[in-house]
Amino acid sequence: MPGPTLLRAEQLRRTYIRGESEIAACANITFSVNKGEFVCIVGPSGCGKTTMLKCMCHLLKPTAGKVFVNEKEIDRPPKEMILIFQDYSRSLFPWRTVLKNVLFVLEKKRLSRKERLDIARSALSAVYLSGFENHYPWELSGGMQQRVAIARGIAFNPDILLMDEPFASVDAQTRSDLEDAILEIWSKFSQTILLVTHDIEEAIYLADRVLVLSGRPSEIREEIQIDLERPRNQLTTKEDKRFIEYRHHIYTLIREEGQKCEIAGI
Ligand SMILES: Nc1ncnc2c1ncn2[C@@H]1O[C@H](COP(=O)(O)OP(=O)(O)O)[C@@H](O)[C@H]1O
Ligand SMILES: [Mg+2]
Repeated sequence: MPGPTLLRAEQLRRTYIRGESEIAACANITFSVNKGEFVCIVGPSGCGKTTMLKCMCHLLKPTAGKVFVNEKEIDRPPKEMILIFQDYSRSLFPWRTVLKNVLFVLEKKRLSRKERLDIARSALSAVYLSGFENHYPWELSGGMQQRVAIARGIAFNPDILLMDEPFASVDAQTRSDLEDAILEIWSKFSQTILLVTHDIEEAIYLADRVLVLSGRPSEIREEIQIDLERPRNQLTTKEDKRFIEYRHHIYTLIREEGQKCEIAGI
């Protein structure tokens, strides 16, 4: 059962200045994530998902609104959180091997050398990268580089893991394997995860709760509790009548939002 509120956004708003005009990427975002919960946020492309996630961990300063971790307002990136970027290529150190990229996040933890190595190796194994420890990022495919970034997030074992479209660049088979790997890690380490995706099926498959965003400037259009048994299964869960109903409902919402954007010319 999910515990108390761990992460909370209150009236979050972020605008960008472009030339003379001000563009609101997200506006009026209010929601919370409970300890131990897996929450997915789904919304149309360009609606402000990345902006919102960066504001959640204060990598971007919100223009207005507040973020709370354990009910304490944050004003800088908190040590309890790690964000796995959508743009993996910019998040890895090209001069460090795969193993050393993962070890980097463990440097400040009080652990022995052996413990660090064990954690890093098991995180790499969880994303099917055993055997690639001594490769450099540029020797790997895009999808593999993204898996290194995921392994690094897992190894750090933060209180809250934020993920921005983490499986967008991998092939379909690896993608479903990684979804299952993340679910396993989440339940094994009692993680709290907030994951952003444009993929409706992925959101339903992973989440306890799905938040549907409106078109830009994004707001939470609807919150949907996902009532599907765990452990989930790529075949049976996705064939479940309720899964199909959720998909139908969310698809319809997102389509409406997309059409609103087209009509408004944004
Ligand atoms: N640094 C920036 N400067 C100006 N506009 C930006 C910047 N980053 C994003 N935007 C704009 O904000 C909107 C939301 O972007 P983003 O948060 O990346 O959406 P998503 O992740 O949902 O695709 C887009 O219209 C995008 O062009
Ligand atoms: Mg994005």
